[in-house]
Amino acid sequence: MYRIIKKEILADSVKRIIVEAPLVSVNAKAGQFVVVMIEESGERIPLTLADTDKSKGLISLIFQEVGFTTKKLGLLNEGDTLFAVLGPLGKPTHSEKVGTVICIGGGVGIAEVYPVSRAFKEAGNHVIGIIGARSKELLILEEEMKKVCEELFVTTDDGSYGRKGFVTDVLKEQLDKIANAKDTNNCLVYAIGPVPMMARVADVTRPYNVKTVVSLNPIMVDATGMCGSCRVTVAGETKFGCVDGPEFDAHQVDFKELTERLSFFKQQEQECLNKNCPRK
Ligand SMILES: Cc1cc2nc3c(=O)[nH]c(=O)nc-3n(C[C@H](O)[C@H](O)[C@H](O)COP(=O)(O)OP(=O)(O)OC[C@H]3O[C@@H](n4cnc5c(N)ncnc54)[C@H](O)[C@@H]3O)c2cc1C
Ligand code: FES
Repeated sequence: MYRIIKKEILADSVKRIIVEAPLVSVNAKAGQFVVVMIEESGERIPLTLADTDKSKGLISLIFQEVGFTTKKLGLLNEGDTLFAVLGPLGKPTHSEKVGTVICIGGGVGIAEVYPVSRAFKEAGNHVIGIIGARSKELLILEEEMKKVCEELFVTTDDGSYGRKGFVTDVLKEQLDKIANAKDTNNCLVYAIGPVPMMARVADVTRPYNVKTVVSLNPIMVDATGMCGSCRVTVAGETKFGCVDGPEFDAHQVDFKELTERLSFFKQQEQECLNKNCPRK
């Protein structure tokens, strides 16, 4: 059993739990994730390792309540336990020294880009962070991101905080600056967030010929490469998000197929929520 020792509300429907999981914590690297089961008969949900405290054997998970299991997870309190925390899973981020790394997080993707930004900074890179949310109330981890980025830009879709617009508006400006300095060979863009955002990031960086990595969120079941539910097409080849990823070359990902596959179970997910909606 994995005990929740701390729970915080970060934004409307976004929560952080700190969980005792010593074996996961000691082996975790940036970019990896765990599969969580609240109870033995429950669904398995993948969540990114947002942070770890290896000396105390703790992991930090940040999740948005979007459906049955994440809503149920959000109802647990400090002292409650999780049935299983499987991981660390997936390939860690290749956080080598490049020069300038632009780290982009959208929505709850900010929780996922934070450990990656820190890893790139620790590798000696100049890290530029761009984080965005629909509105101020949904923005998370601004202070944490400030600590690991040399420069941090914040956007909101509605202009309620930071700059009005999308993360890709700022990305384009930063790429223009880097291109003027003839430094695109020493630049990497890394993005995590909603699929349309990651697809747009890939479109923006393509003309600059800047290497671009995205961390994908296909539907996962076993998360060990056995079931095939997380398959994505990358450079025309079938890859499994759970064992070959979750990070892939953004310019090679078939985002249209990923979008279609993410909505395969929409009807069942809605029925499950309507029938069993966890109460607040
Ligand atoms: C590698 C990886 C890391 C992730 N990290 C985070 C994170 O740190 N924080 C966070 O809030 N979310 C994260 N997600 C997404 C999270 O797993 C889903 O939001 C969650 O599984 C939804 O379950 P649900 O029962 O609450 O909602 P459901 O009603 O079952 O689904 C809502 C939507 O979530 C997606 N989804 C459903 N089941 C899965 C599944 N098994 N795997 C992936 N996506 C699914 C689908 O797009 C679906 O439409 C991650 C996904 C992946 C693949
Ligand atoms: S989740 Fe089953 S193969 Fe990846």
